[in-house]
Amino acid sequence: MRIVCTITEMKEIISEQKKHGKSIGFVPTMGYLHEGHLSLVEEAKKHDEFIVISIFVNPLQFGPNEDFERYPRDIERDEKLAKAAGVDVIFYPNIKEMYPNDLTCSVRVQKGVNILCGKSRPGHFDGVATVVMKLFHIVSPMRAYFGMKDAQQVAVIENMIADFNLNVQLMKCQTLRENDGLAKSSRNVYLTPEERRQAPEIYSSLLNAKNKINSGEKNIATLKVEIAEHLTTKTNGIVDYVEILAYPSLEKMDHCEGVMIIAIALKFSQARLIDNMTVTI
Ligand code: PAJ
Repeated sequence: MRIVCTITEMKEIISEQKKHGKSIGFVPTMGYLHEGHLSLVEEAKKHDEFIVISIFVNPLQFGPNEDFERYPRDIERDEKLAKAAGVDVIFYPNIKEMYPNDLTCSVRVQKGVNILCGKSRPGHFDGVATVVMKLFHIVSPMRAYFGMKDAQQVAVIENMIADFNLNVQLMKCQTLRENDGLAKSSRNVYLTPEERRQAPEIYSSLLNAKNKINSGEKNIATLKVEIAEHLTTKTNGIVDYVEILAYPSLEKMDHCEGVMIIAIALKFSQARLIDNMTVTI
C-alpha cells in the first residue's frame, strides 16, 4: 500500500492502473478510520480491482464554530487499518495541495439543503460537493462508495453526478453499528462515558418509530414528538432535528407513505451525532 500526498502522483498512478485495465474503486473519507469506513472498502473490493481511499479533513465543509481544528486525526493508525483492509493507495493531500489558492469556482448545492444537516450547517454541503468534485477528478474512479449514515450527503452527491454528467457510479452502503446500535462515527470519541452510554437511544428511538409506522401509525407530527420525547427523557442530548421525509427525494410529506427516511441529529456536550433509518410501507 502506498501513501500519496500529491495530485500529480495520484493521477499518474491512476492512469498507469487504467492502462492495465484495472477498475478503480474510491472511498472518500476524513480519516480517523473505523469499521464503518472499512466496510466501504470491503464493499469496494467486491466490485473493483484497485482501491483508493482519500484522507482529507476538508476545511470547506466545516462552519466557523464547528470542529475542524479538533477533528480527530491519526494517520499512522489509519495507515495500519487501511493496509490490513487491502487498500492500494491512501490519497493524503494537505490543505495547500488541495486548495493552493482561494477557489475561483465552487459547487453550490441548490436543492435539498434547507432541511436536515443543510439547515443547521449552512454551506456544509457546498463544501462537501466541492471537495468530492475535486477528488472525483483526481482519482477518476469507476465507482465511489458512500455510507447511508450520511443519507443527505448521498442525495447531494447523487444529484451532483447527474447534474454534471460525471462518469462515476455511486455505491450506497449500509450503516455499520456498534453492538448496542450506535452508528460508528469518528466523532463518537468526543462522547463522555455517560453520553456514550446514552447514545444508543438514538438507534432505539429510530427502531421504535419504524415499528410504530409498520403497525399503522401515519401521523408524522405524532411520530416526531415521540422520537424527540424519547431522546430528551433518555439522554442529556439536545435535539437538533427529527424528521420523517420521503426517500430518496427528501421532501416533506403530509403523512407516512411509500419509502421514507427517519433522520435524527442530537447534540451532546462535544459531539453532534446523526443517524437515520429507512422504512417502507
Ligand atoms: P467521513 O465522515 O470520514 O465519512 C466517510 C464515509 O464513510 C462517508 O461516505 C460516510 O457516510 C461513511 N461512514 C461513516 N460512518 C459510517 C458507518 N457507521 N457505516 C457505514 N459508512 C459510514 O463523509 C465524509 O467523511 C466527508 O463528508 C467526505 C465525503 C469525505 C467529504 O469530505
